[in-house]
Amino acid sequence: MEAIIQSNYAAMSKIAAQIVAELLNTKPNAVLGMATGSTPLGLYQELVRLHTREQLDFSRVTTFNLDEYVGLNANHPQSYHHFMHEHFFQHVNIPPHNINIPSGTTSNYPAFCDWYEKRIVECGGIDLQILGIGTDGHIGFNEPTSSLSSRTRLKTLSKQTIDDNARFFDRRADVPVYAITMGVGTILEARKLLLVASGNGKAKAIAQTVEGPVTSMVTASALQLHRDAVVIVDEAAASQLTMRDYYDFIYAAKPAAPRGA
Ligand code: F6R
Repeated sequence: MEAIIQSNYAAMSKIAAQIVAELLNTKPNAVLGMATGSTPLGLYQELVRLHTREQLDFSRVTTFNLDEYVGLNANHPQSYHHFMHEHFFQHVNIPPHNINIPSGTTSNYPAFCDWYEKRIVECGGIDLQILGIGTDGHIGFNEPTSSLSSRTRLKTLSKQTIDDNARFFDRRADVPVYAITMGVGTILEARKLLLVASGNGKAKAIAQTVEGPVTSMVTASALQLHRDAVVIVDEAAASQLTMRDYYDFIYAAKPAAPRGA
């Protein structure tokens, strides 16, 4: 696993966007795995800037989102469908039929989850999966004790995640209790993983992910099993890493490393 520490959120987002842009420049028909939440907003803003100012082309890109709340239709302001259109898809040139987001309103969740897994395979697999991390160490909505070989499925959110996400809803009681999420096993099949995290609230989960044991109690720790996983964090999120100087040393010595703001 590669850990890249940047001075602030803007620099973190810029480096992450550069990694996505490099992929699209070498593989214009890449399959991207998308995440929602507060953290990747800066990354999406930077990709939109690269699209509008530097002609970064998404016309042959296919996307698969990690997750969606169960019970929210695509137009609900807190649905991940809405989030993605609002913050990213409406600003770039991805053909709408190339956009895949789990349905939060299907009448048959197991059948939908099977279809989603097959669709990823039909599209050639995910080249690069963007990830955030929950304060409980989740990736996607793979909460503590999720199997590290889990596939796309319906998942009950943890109390911690419901508390964390209550900020987006009028009342805590409005936060959906269930989500449909790619599994850890699904995520690990992506050819590259790019996890972004910022702020003190993520420091413990990041230390457990990068330096702790691989455990289903911190599903992000499964990134240690992946041969090409990059974790990009700001200073605050890096604050509990014990080998921080080593990560800086490696990055500084990397010949063609992208540089932040
Ligand atoms: C969202 C997702 C979640 C978030 C995580 C962090 O699609 O998969 O794992 O990445 O909950 O959310 P933020 O960035 O809002 O702290």
